Amino acid sequence: MVRPLLFRLDAERAHNLALRSCEHAGRFELTRRTARSVFGIRDERLRVDCGGLCLENPLGLAAGFDKNARAVPLLGRLGFGHVEIGSVSSRPSQGNPRPRLFRIPEDDAIVVSYGVPNDGAEVVRRRLLAVDRPPARVGINLVKTNDPARPAVEPDVYDDYARSFELLQDRADYIALNMSCPNSPGDRDFFDLLPRFDSLLARLAELSPRVPVFLKLKPTRDEGALREIVAIADAYPFVAGFSINLPAGKPAGLRLSPSPERLERMPGAVGGRPVEGLINDILARLYGIVGPGSRYGLMAAGGVFDAEDALRKIRLGASVVQLYSGLVYRGPRVVREILAGMAEQLEREGFESVGHAVGADARA
Ligand SMILES: Cc1cc2nc3c(=O)[nH]c(=O)nc-3n(C[C@H](O)[C@H](O)[C@H](O)COP(=O)(O)O)c2cc1C
Repeated sequence: MVRPLLFRLDAERAHNLALRSCEHAGRFELTRRTARSVFGIRDERLRVDCGGLCLENPLGLAAGFDKNARAVPLLGRLGFGHVEIGSVSSRPSQGNPRPRLFRIPEDDAIVVSYGVPNDGAEVVRRRLLAVDRPPARVGINLVKTNDPARPAVEPDVYDDYARSFELLQDRADYIALNMSCPNSPGDRDFFDLLPRFDSLLARLAELSPRVPVFLKLKPTRDEGALREIVAIADAYPFVAGFSINLPAGKPAGLRLSPSPERLERMPGAVGGRPVEGLINDILARLYGIVGPGSRYGLMAAGGVFDAEDALRKIRLGASVVQLYSGLVYRGPRVVREILAGMAEQLEREGFESVGHAVGADARA
């Protein structure tokens, strides 16, 4: 009912409105309980371990939806096994100029050029301190502060992540490190020099990480680079796994319906259906590198709209799938539909649990 109205608004205004409504609704015990019973689903077969992180189910809300931890009490009751908030940076940031969020409904896609606007780690910490019993697992996604006036240089970048890490690790069930925001041109290539992964992880090791850490990587099909990143992570036991970010801009190969002129008016990275193939390809390569039975868990977001999409990623090697665009285009009921559909399909295909399906379609 609400979606057609929201879709008449500018995309960023609609998003803010939806988020504020979730924030407001989450203040009342009645709405929180109702959300849980309407949207939640419990099924033992859906329980999953992702790099040592135990989750009630394998479906999570991807980073970017609730950047500032405003709506955790409600979002955590929509049935997700986890909610990833952020990206949060050590200092507040305005992000890029507006307009910076666009919908392509005919492609089930969202174009984003936010540039990680957020309230900063201190404010987010205070907000999370006020949530007494987070209803689902909460991941916090950290990113370097986007500040065009301060170029990304060593060791500032590491200190920036470290400050957020210190402020937020005790509020999180896991930390995700956004290693390359596609919409922060001054920062997004910083970790292309792979030894810098080592420098960052060494800096974080000084803080004695107490929660699992996942690295959200710049998407690349370069298996040599992926192998090198995994080898660097091997030396840091707190690294629990990997996920894959959106590519910058509109790389060749993304199938998009709008004309080049219309696309030109939508600067930024594409999320949703068009990136599914690319993300799944990189996911399969990553799983090929870490292999079954490794200490790493893979989280994957990109074009998940139904149970089949979710299970495809699981079978390629993800232990956990996340969505953002699916929630925008299908509404909150998508969570229950996906989870119920996954449980049914697992049963049909003879898998005892999600864990047994992870990597089932991996390349030999
Ligand atoms: C509007 C929007 C904002 C996003 N913001 C972030 C972010 O702040 N940090 C991050 O790591 N990923 C961010 N992402 C990427 C998502 O977490 C996710 O990886 C991506 O959208 C693919 O999932 P989807 O196809 O279900 O949208 C954002 C995506 C969108 C569409």
